[in-house]
Amino acid sequence: MIVSGSATQTLAATLADETGRELAPVSYEQFPDGERKVQVGAVGSHTVVVASTVSDGDWIELLQLQDAVREAGCEEITTVLPYLGYARQDRAFEEGDPVSARAMARAVSTGTDRVVTVNPHEAAVCEFFDVPTEIVDAAGLLAEPLPELTDALFLSPDAGAIELAETVRDAYGGGETDHFEKTRHSGSNVTIEPSEAPVDGRDVVLVDDIIATGSTMSESVAVLDDRDASRVFVTCVHPLLAQNAFLKLSRAGVETVYGTDTIERPVSTVSAAPAIAPRL
Ligand code: R5P
Repeated sequence: MIVSGSATQTLAATLADETGRELAPVSYEQFPDGERKVQVGAVGSHTVVVASTVSDGDWIELLQLQDAVREAGCEEITTVLPYLGYARQDRAFEEGDPVSARAMARAVSTGTDRVVTVNPHEAAVCEFFDVPTEIVDAAGLLAEPLPELTDALFLSPDAGAIELAETVRDAYGGGETDHFEKTRHSGSNVTIEPSEAPVDGRDVVLVDDIIATGSTMSESVAVLDDRDASRVFVTCVHPLLAQNAFLKLSRAGVETVYGTDTIERPVSTVSAAPAIAPRL
């Protein structure tokens, strides 16, 4: 059986199709004081709980789903975290900070036998789980919706995401890769330094793991526009699109964003299910 969190219903249904598993009935409720309660129907002896943890409510829901499934008699639980929230808080940056990724991983580990997660921001956060944890790479699927490209350049906004750009290039079947240099000044303020690679007249595919506030991508697009790139395609695994991110991207002239359904947004046109299914 597959048991879905409220924020991953589309991906859970696609995963059910891909794996031939049944979708368990689940209901989600929120009381007037803000507390949540899920209710799960009959589950099998091995259950897959699928829940992206975008909001704090998603984390509570996930812990409740795991507990409800165990309470219903399930013997083996696999928890799929298509988007693993708090992965960017992977260390104590300042005195007095928690290692939030570790705190969340420990909590999730108490209710599961194993974890599967998709392109976590830092692979090392998987070591915080107390149960076996596998990483799925869904980046290659982002090549699917791309049209035929001219003199293609697959570009990441910083060196940290160059492997994702290489993965999309390999899945597309050709083209160069390169990366810009990013300096982050605050949560929503970044500056982008271009690279030496010529972009004039070329089709450019920007690739990153997450679009959060949209600052990184809109600054990157501005640099490419200044340098007369031809068409620019913006892609990411996790289209978080927080606050006014979509507006920011539109104002920067971005026409199309391709994201996966690890986070369900209007741009989540690529399903991560084919990459996750073989691990279940
Ligand atoms: C950070 O290193 C990540 O890979 C993304 O580049 C970042 O999360 C994007 O954030 P934003 O959209 O807020 O610029």
